[in-house]
Formats: sequence, structure tokens, C-alpha cells
Amino acid sequence: MFMKKLIAGNWKMNGSVSSSTDLINSVAEKLKQNAKLLSVADFAVFPCYLHLEQIKNIINDCNAPIKFGGQDCSENDNGAFTGDVSATMLKDFGADYVILGHSERREYHNESSELIGKKASFAHSKELVTIICVGEKENEREQGNERQVAQDQLIKSMPESCNSTNTVIAYEPVWAIGTGKTATPDDVAQMHSFIRSFLRARFSTGQDIKILYGGSVKPSNAKELFQVPDVNGALIGGASLKADDYIAIAEALL
Ligand code: PGA
Repeated sequence: MFMKKLIAGNWKMNGSVSSSTDLINSVAEKLKQNAKLLSVADFAVFPCYLHLEQIKNIINDCNAPIKFGGQDCSENDNGAFTGDVSATMLKDFGADYVILGHSERREYHNESSELIGKKASFAHSKELVTIICVGEKENEREQGNERQVAQDQLIKSMPESCNSTNTVIAYEPVWAIGTGKTATPDDVAQMHSFIRSFLRARFSTGQDIKILYGGSVKPSNAKELFQVPDVNGALIGGASLKADDYIAIAEALL
């Protein structure tokens, strides 16, 4: 069955009001002229919360085929949670997606897979699509534990409510994020096939849950990564901050 790919740009804690405006304008302009690309992939960007308003307005004003979302959200509904943003707020604002369990949240904010599972469950109740990230650290791979780590994260971070409409998995080996080191197509093939088997066994729509690869995806390696079976798109960090690179990665699908 044909599965549309997803090309997601995780802008992380980058950009200013003016640079984010330039970036989204440029991405929007390039995408609108590219019907062929839009027939094979969906596009989503994840700016910081402060820049969401202007990104939404630009996307709406020029009717750009781009969705947007938050880089995280709380496991709680609205209330006394200083500094947090809820799934309720993201949905109310018009977001479609939220990234959960990114390795930088797991690492710098001590987020456990159990917590990510709670966030995902609540986000699903608000009809957000969750991109749930999993992936092993370098020492875990050296010890040959990459499958075990991913499986443990998947079991705990994916609530019962997950299905192919509301969930996307991003496999992001931590040692490949922002380092310029990319997993080889063989590494990616093994992990994506392992994750696909897990999803198929656990969820009735598991065959159709998209699995993105993330970790130093760039125009020069996108083609070989997209040729790997069960790579259904990419979660792109650094390269998504340059419109030309983001689009060039997507064009590797054609
Ligand atoms: P990177 O980040 O493309 O800069 O490696 C990927 C990610 O963290 O999602």
C-alpha cells in the first residue's frame, strides 16, 4: 500500500522572530511550486512556542501545505504547571502535531518513557498526532543493546490509544543526532524492521504507523536512507533550519 512520507523539521531552540519568518516563507514558497513533492510527502515544522504564532499566520496567509506542532507538551491538562504548555493549548491554537520523548527531553529533562506514555495518551485525547521518539545511546549500541533499548522505550512510551492516524514513531539513534554521524543504511534497516515488527504485533494498525529516521539527515545522505524499507520519512534537526536543505532532503524521495 502507498504510504505518504512525512518530512518533519524540528527547529529546536533556534531562530529569531525574523529568521523564523524568513525560513517558513522560503519553505512555503518552494513547496507550493512542487506538486510532485506534495503528492509523495506531508510536511510539518516544529518551531519554539514563541514563534508558533507567526508561523501559523504565514502558513494560513499563503495557504501553504505545511502543518505545525509543539516540540513537547505536558502530561497534564491546563492548570498550575508553571512553564509548561498543554496539549489542550496546542490543539486550541491550531497545532496538529506534537513531538514527544525527543532524546534531548529524555536527557536534559530526565523524561522517562512512562512520562512520555502519559503525555502521548493525553495528547491523543486532544486529537494531536504524536511523534514519539526512541533511540539508543552510543554505549548502548556498543554493548549490542540497541534493540532492547528501543523495545523498552516503545513499550512504555506508546499508550493503548496509539494507532496509525494519531501516532508516528521517530527512530533517532542518540549518537547520530547533531553529530554529523549518520547510521548506515544497514543499521537503519535493521532497526526499522525491528520497530515495524513490534508495531505490527502490538497495534492492529501497526503496519501503517509511520516510522521516521532522524539523526544528521542531510541532502547528501537522504536518498540512501529513504531507500531503506520501512523508512517512512525523516525527522530533521539542523538541516531543517535551511530551506534549501530541507527541501533538497524531501526531493530525495522523488
Ligand atoms: P539533527 O537532529 O538532524 O540535527 O541530527 C535530529 C533531531 O534531533 O530530531
